[in-house]
Amino acid sequence: MTDSEIVEETIAFVKETLKGAEGGHDWFHIQRVFKNTLLIAKDEQVNILVVSLGALLHDIADAKFNNGNEAIGPKLAMEFLSSIGVDPKVISHVVDIIENISFKSSLEVSKNKFSSPELAVVQDADRLDAIGAIGIARAFNYGGFKNRELYNPDIAPNLNMSKEEYKKSTAPTINHFYEKLLLLKEKMNTVSGKNIAEQRHQFMLNYLEQFFLEWNGNS
Ligand code: ADP
Ligand code: NI
Repeated sequence: MTDSEIVEETIAFVKETLKGAEGGHDWFHIQRVFKNTLLIAKDEQVNILVVSLGALLHDIADAKFNNGNEAIGPKLAMEFLSSIGVDPKVISHVVDIIENISFKSSLEVSKNKFSSPELAVVQDADRLDAIGAIGIARAFNYGGFKNRELYNPDIAPNLNMSKEEYKKSTAPTINHFYEKLLLLKEKMNTVSGKNIAEQRHQFMLNYLEQFFLEWNGNS
């Protein structure tokens, strides 16, 4: 199979596997991350097949929606890529990317051992989809899915949550901006990722300013 046939097969597999996924992690999230990955990759020295497959398979079985079992995604990806005869070296790199991409794993210093230019690109592309206009939509969609309040002035953001506390938190969605989304700009790995993140970050700041104006009946 040529690289582009491998990518096409993978797109079909991911679309099928994510049928019925919740809005923040559906095929369109993957498609946006895939597009951002190719955009950022233009300015980086990376293996295009590896970043493409990493982007397409990075959320194939999100642990949050599989009873916290983080092994399912990498296993599914490995089985699929083996079944279509992808080079084992490529498979192993893609699995490393899937295992190391999440915000959660970047908080766990001990687990965050693997790094590569390819992981850096896909991670940036995934982070971009969590900020800006799309990021705002995804946050409120997730909050609605979890039945969270939009905002509650009596519940302050908590910047020191452990992984367990973060998972169990029922805080209002606005808190998520301060606990995660506004911190992502500083975590970008690549120059082009950082540039796009700057602009999306500013959009979120403007959004929050307007949100609080309206909340306080001032606009
Ligand atoms: P991804 O899998 O794309 O890296 P996550 O699984 O961490 O991202 O989250 C998926 C989406 O849900 C993101 O847009 C993220 O901001 C949002 N989200 C995650 N946790 C929360 C939360 N506690 N409140 C609001 N939105 C959240
Ligand atoms: Ni993702």
